[in-house]
Amino acid sequence: MKYKDLYNEWRSDPEQFWMHAAKNINWVKFPTFALDDTKKPFYRWFPDGEVNTCYNAIDRHVIDGKGEKIAIIYDSAIRGIKEKISYKQLLKKVTKFAHALSTAGISKGDRVIIYMPMIPEAIVSMLACARIGAIHSVVFGGFASNELAVRIDDAKPKAIIAGSCGVEPTGIIPYKPLLDKAIDQAKHSPKFCVIFQRDELQAPLVVGRDYDWDDFQKASTEIPCVPVLGSDPLYILYTSGTTGQPKGVVRPTAGHLVSLMWTMKNFFGADPDDVFWAASDVGWVVGHSYIVYAPLFAGNTTLLFEGKPIGTPDPGTFWRIIEEHYVKILFTAPTAFRAIKRSDPNGEFISKYDTSSLKTLFLAGERADTDTIKWASNKLGVPVIDHWWQTETGFPMVGCPQGLNSPPVKIGTAGLAMPGYDIKVLNEDGTVAASNVLGSIVVKLPLPPGTLPTLWGSDDRFKKSYLLKFPGYYDTGDSGLIDEDGFVSIMARTDDVINTAGHRLSTGAMEEVLSGHPDIAECAVIGVNDDLKGQLPLGFICLNAGVNRKPLEIINESVLLVREKIGPVASFKKAVIIERLPKTRSGKVLRGTMLKIANGEKFKVPATIDDPSILDEIEKALLEIDYPQKK
Ligand code: COA
Ligand code: AMP
Repeated sequence: MKYKDLYNEWRSDPEQFWMHAAKNINWVKFPTFALDDTKKPFYRWFPDGEVNTCYNAIDRHVIDGKGEKIAIIYDSAIRGIKEKISYKQLLKKVTKFAHALSTAGISKGDRVIIYMPMIPEAIVSMLACARIGAIHSVVFGGFASNELAVRIDDAKPKAIIAGSCGVEPTGIIPYKPLLDKAIDQAKHSPKFCVIFQRDELQAPLVVGRDYDWDDFQKASTEIPCVPVLGSDPLYILYTSGTTGQPKGVVRPTAGHLVSLMWTMKNFFGADPDDVFWAASDVGWVVGHSYIVYAPLFAGNTTLLFEGKPIGTPDPGTFWRIIEEHYVKILFTAPTAFRAIKRSDPNGEFISKYDTSSLKTLFLAGERADTDTIKWASNKLGVPVIDHWWQTETGFPMVGCPQGLNSPPVKIGTAGLAMPGYDIKVLNEDGTVAASNVLGSIVVKLPLPPGTLPTLWGSDDRFKKSYLLKFPGYYDTGDSGLIDEDGFVSIMARTDDVINTAGHRLSTGAMEEVLSGHPDIAECAVIGVNDDLKGQLPLGFICLNAGVNRKPLEIINESVLLVREKIGPVASFKKAVIIERLPKTRSGKVLRGTMLKIANGEKFKVPATIDDPSILDEIEKALLEIDYPQKK
């Protein structure tokens, strides 16, 4: 079917559309209706259906006779290790671990935090929780203990499953001390922890609280899937908002199954025997949806990659993996390609490998620049599909669907609205903007199945963050425009969120951390353009009166503080000390003007500024740290 026809089919009867899609998953009890909208603006999809996520990811494929098929290819370029796990083997691992969790007292609705690197045990842990109806919350390994502590206090997990360490190009990153510190810091205490000891580093265990992964499940056998209601949460995934308190995005079970299953063929054009590779991390939504769940729901082979696009060992790693494992669909963030392009501009490493199995490259997570798209499509000879979505939605909102005879891509745009999403651009006053006019990108309520029904434990914050500004719509927090043919361009965030190497970060959270430094009176963090990572945080610091220490010392301490409190993933490495922040007469910090100066863009001195001379000081201070960056 053609994209346009299917989109219109959805528009004419959304509930029927999703009830039809629901037939592609296995239910314990098929829902009698699709949408419960009796408690607007809180919507629930398939609330009276009964289902289990793990059953749909593994059991049903084994029952269908596909037990010998490879479910997971683990390729650790950084450790030089490869492993293939069949659906049958995965079932055994998951059911054993799920049994152990259940025996240890974890049951339906309990929360379990998973703090693991990119290893098969991370997937096993997620699926084991799903099997027994427990709600997992995966925390990305690049976050520091403070971030982990905040999540522990919000999710109140009964258990935490962690790896002993991560392996990064800079060396071994011990996770266990970070976990111990987080547990000490948090008010809530988990009942127990399960630690997967990696060969690279064995972590000391706390007697009575920590169990070794193998010992924990030594006596376990298997456990059947526990049915849950369609609207029960499968997981909570924390994502950055405007403050240091991350938002706990709740993922409802059935909607997640139905929508992800739908995307595999219709959006990604994946056939059941394809090897699907999302080069991301299980700690992000791309990892949840397209490393773990969707490819397994569809019975594909998913590739779990531990490493970096460059330096592990070289910019040929992606092409080596494509050749070796016959990858057909690759999904990654534009940063990965910018990194490869920078190291191997002529694509010499590409010509060393046979990448002919690759049919499509999908990019998302941040704005894809035209140069990178063109470079990738020229060098690989495959279509490059930009597409746009968020942790909150769990699956693509906009793109060019490869299973639906999509109209040709328009480079520079993220594509067309997917079924489920009635996307509009609104002016500040809430009226619908004309074609090609920049405004806030919103989605008409209700959102489709699989998207967030609320934030964990905070209906109020959910309403405040997404629904109040434009009644009747979900505010995506992105600004952009829609052209006359319906192609959507994503331009920037309307909040304090920045995107660094495809990682969503809050500048507000970084400002909160910097404000904790005893010598800092005031600060601002902005996301400046960066050729590699898209955006990088840059700090502006004003010191307390009377502080006369060396500026570099304070800057170095600030960098360390953000690293300690938020984590290395923040990539906060640069800051300047200035006399005061530029503000309007009413006290609003002029972040937009600071950003233009740092990016080397033309700017007008705002008429409302209280003291224009501060802008010269900023320009001077930035020049000293090589901003604006020279191309
Ligand atoms: N555990 C512990 N530390 C981690 C980590 C993890 N899972 N992931 C990243 N880090 C650390 C890195 O070691 C680095 O630390 P450093 O400051 O000591 O060097 C820091 O966090 C920043 O990591 P990253 O943003 O990955 O930068 P990098 O310099 O190591 O690599 C790229 C640069 C471009 C190669 C890398 O960003 C990349 O591959 N990007 C692809 C984008 C992507 O996959 N995005 C996911 C969303 S779709
Ligand atoms: P996350 O929730 O971490 O997936 O980040 C979602 C945010 O990343 C979006 O709200 C956008 O700001 C940005 N983003 C994701 N995909 C794209 C894209 N294709 N183009 C531009 N920005 C994107």
